[in-house]
Amino acid sequence: MGLAVYSETVEGTNERFIEDARRSTWSPRDVAERALAKIDRNDPLLELTWNLASGSVYVEQVGLEAASVILTESPDAVAKLIGATAVGDEGRHSSVFAHYAERVGGAVAPPAEPIVDLSGGLLAMEYPAARMLAHTLLEGFAADEFFWFIRGLRSTGLADIYRLVRRDESRHVGLGMYYATRGGGLRGVRELEPEDLLAAEEFVVRYSDLDSIDGLVTRLLPGLEPGHVRRWMRHRHEKRMSMIFNVRDDRADLVRHRARHPVLS
Ligand SMILES: [Fe+2]
Ligand SMILES: [Fe+2]
Repeated sequence: MGLAVYSETVEGTNERFIEDARRSTWSPRDVAERALAKIDRNDPLLELTWNLASGSVYVEQVGLEAASVILTESPDAVAKLIGATAVGDEGRHSSVFAHYAERVGGAVAPPAEPIVDLSGGLLAMEYPAARMLAHTLLEGFAADEFFWFIRGLRSTGLADIYRLVRRDESRHVGLGMYYATRGGGLRGVRELEPEDLLAAEEFVVRYSDLDSIDGLVTRLLPGLEPGHVRRWMRHRHEKRMSMIFNVRDDRADLVRHRARHPVLS
């Protein structure tokens, strides 16, 4: 920690991340109000949306905490500038869900135990590169989950909120993958011991309950074949993992190890 020496240009890819973040800024209160205006008070999905929005308040807070710590830990001056946009995004996300949950259910429901554990586990990770990878992989799962919520929650207005939040999350995933595989975080990713890299992935998978997401989305969108969402999310996660493995000298060993010990069946 401390001052990071400015050693690369803010132009080019870095500038694109910062500009895109600036363009997608919106008011949490206004967005929540527009979503709430779509609600039918007799919609049987309302209790579910209250629970989802309340859970999202705290998941986004985990994202906020993680982004703040990653920004502080990064030795890269330009990554700190980009990290600042992610911190702002996560604060806006937590806030829009809080507005929505308060109006639908009277208050934000307290955080579920797994979210508390997720927050503690992410912040307790020993290596900054492992935390950064875990955070990016978690955002990948979140963005993929939101893809389906946007389709399944149209009647409740919550779909509109997830659409805006997903836009930011997709940018965060792109930014995390760029930083880990081509940018300032590459050295940290290459220097991680293989067991620490795999432990970071296992941590993420432990808190990403694809079976529950698959069950929920299949209930919301009855045309979907059970298992489809789970397979799709798994496939997208595998693509992110292979991008990470590709920058490591022990790529072949990692691929072999995972083939023998799959973290996602
Ligand atoms: Fe977020
Ligand atoms: Fe994010």
